[in-house]
Amino acid sequence: MTEMLRAPAEVKYAEELDWLESVDDGPKPFSWRLSPRMVRLFVLGSERADGLDREISPKWFGDRSFVERSIVTLASDRGLLLIGDPGTGKSWLAELLAAAISRNSTLVVQGTAGTTEDHIKYSWNVSMVIAKGQSRASMIPSPIMTAMEKGVIGRFEELTRSTSDVQDALISILSEKYVSIPELEDDNIVFAQPGFSIIATANSRDRGVNDLSSALKRRFNFVRIPVVTNKKSEAEIVRFRTTELLRRHQIDLDVPPNLLDILLQSFADLRAAAASATSDDEKLESALSTAEQIGVLEDAILHSTFFGDRSLKAETLAGSLVGSLARRSPEDLAILNKYWHGVVEPRSKEDGGEWPAFLEGGRQAIATLS
Ligand SMILES: Nc1ncnc2c1ncn2[C@@H]1O[C@H](COP(=O)(O)OP(=O)(O)OP(=O)(O)O)[C@@H](O)[C@H]1O
Ligand SMILES: [Mg+2]
Repeated sequence: MTEMLRAPAEVKYAEELDWLESVDDGPKPFSWRLSPRMVRLFVLGSERADGLDREISPKWFGDRSFVERSIVTLASDRGLLLIGDPGTGKSWLAELLAAAISRNSTLVVQGTAGTTEDHIKYSWNVSMVIAKGQSRASMIPSPIMTAMEKGVIGRFEELTRSTSDVQDALISILSEKYVSIPELEDDNIVFAQPGFSIIATANSRDRGVNDLSSALKRRFNFVRIPVVTNKKSEAEIVRFRTTELLRRHQIDLDVPPNLLDILLQSFADLRAAAASATSDDEKLESALSTAEQIGVLEDAILHSTFFGDRSLKAETLAGSLVGSLARRSPEDLAILNKYWHGVVEPRSKEDGGEWPAFLEGGRQAIATLS
């Protein structure tokens, strides 16, 4: 296997998936590669009660009810729509489910204002059409059509960003389970094979979730993924992602647990402040998601590796936090400044430890950006 910047989950966890498949004796819907229980186990990790000979690490952190509901939906007639704030792991969960169920998570359509019906149905290879005419050979199936033909899961990212034409085309795919190709005289219907389904994601901060037509809503089961607010699970996610990141960049650096605590505490404080804010100007533009936390830590780690002495310092972490969260000037900077005065300063006096260095690093970063 050649190196990839980011391998899809079915490649990254190929060995684990092979093993799970080999020990899986549960009933499998359609052509699923794993039984529903094994899919859940792959996503959420194993527990002692599962009685397996090896430990399966958790990959998505969150309530198991969301994962179970998602799996049940995929075995049903309906598509799955994962909705939630940015950075809550919707796309990652979609990828893991497609990898576990179909061993293929890369049949993805990205929803944008420019997505057209062709992107979810098919288009033509123009030079082949000119040379040989329209036929199945000169047709370019979309990822969704390929998923239908193979009886696997197709993914649709950011469903609500696409136009209503595209959404309408999806309605017919989800209800009829075939696509007709009127340009062809024969062999002009592509039927979905059993096992085909769609996992779509939508960001609840984007306008549009409510604008989905009721016909489309009826063809999807909605699973709402909340922002993780439990500090323990959040610490786990951040640690899991960071370890992976360090491995990917081949960086040998320890993230001191007390700095991780400071990061988690700061996000918890900033979220509490956002929750009690009365206007948007008093709220950071960032959704303060777990993904954002991972981003801050990644930034700090890379900074320390490239420009520091290869150990993560509280000052650097503070600088990355301010740099990442101060998107709007002056609004975001004012909010951070208030937080630094009102919360970090007293904490630094009371708790000591790395807080004073964090205080100083943040002050400097705010001053530089102001
Ligand atoms: N609950 C979670 N479990 C594991 N990883 C998570 C979780 N939440 C977020 N992450 C990590 O955060 C990063 C961003 O997640 P992802 O892209 O899936 O978010 P998203 O909900 O699709 O966001 P967006 O709405 O912006 O597309 C990923 O690296 C993902 O692994
Ligand atoms: Mg996403």
